[in-house]
Amino acid sequence: MKSMILGISASPQKGGKVETLVQEVLSASRLPSELVRLHDISVGPCKACNGCWSNNKCVIKDDWKTLRKKILDARALVIGSWAFSGMIDSATKALMERFWSFRHHHLLTQGRVGAVVVAGSNTELAGKLGDSLLQFMQNYGIKALGRITAAGANPCLGCKDSLNDCEYSAVVAQYGLLERIGTALYNPIENQLHALKNARVLGQRLGHKVNHLMARGVSAEAV
Ligand SMILES: Cc1cc2nc3c(=O)[nH]c(=O)nc-3n(C[C@H](O)[C@H](O)[C@H](O)COP(=O)(O)O)c2cc1C
Repeated sequence: MKSMILGISASPQKGGKVETLVQEVLSASRLPSELVRLHDISVGPCKACNGCWSNNKCVIKDDWKTLRKKILDARALVIGSWAFSGMIDSATKALMERFWSFRHHHLLTQGRVGAVVVAGSNTELAGKLGDSLLQFMQNYGIKALGRITAAGANPCLGCKDSLNDCEYSAVVAQYGLLERIGTALYNPIENQLHALKNARVLGQRLGHKVNHLMARGVSAEAV
């Protein structure tokens, strides 16, 4: 059976915060779903060759062809991303670039519904990145219903020098001088009840919307 809701996680961490929240959205939608991990496949950046102009098909030989079909078969799309170096991670960025092939003379993604998940140790940044992903969806004709953000772990947390001995410690930059690092500082996703609840509600809204569109017999393109 084709997936009616497709989750795409750009996190390299299986079972990490991004993937957990994307999965939560998928499950709550109660639609047939599939989760694709960008780090399990190969989808590189756009090469600006314009090989897609004539038929909306990218000519780069990687796993885009398979992912493209999954995106176009689905009625709803959930993109899960994470903050890296103050920006969106590169796997998400490559995915966004490859969407370019959808929009010559047609807008092939038009009429789908969507949602976004972003994790980052800086939650304000995660919110901004989430907003730009929502805008990206809107630009591709996808009705974006909302975004979920989660607090990520500070990238220096695992390093033994992060408390004091490293001049460039992102732990000191974020928290100041700490005596020790407890597990709570990693912001485990099971402690982020607000994000989990928001993911469930967003998933339910996505499922509800898709079911109503289908009941009205509205094709993806016509929404
Ligand atoms: C190498 C690296 C760089 C990161 N850079 C940032 C950053 O610039 N800003 C930020 O808010 N979080 C940053 N983070 C934190 C991640 O966004 C956060 O841990 C997120 O939860 C990762 O998603 P995951 O839990 O699904 O793996 C970084 C993490 C790593 C590993």
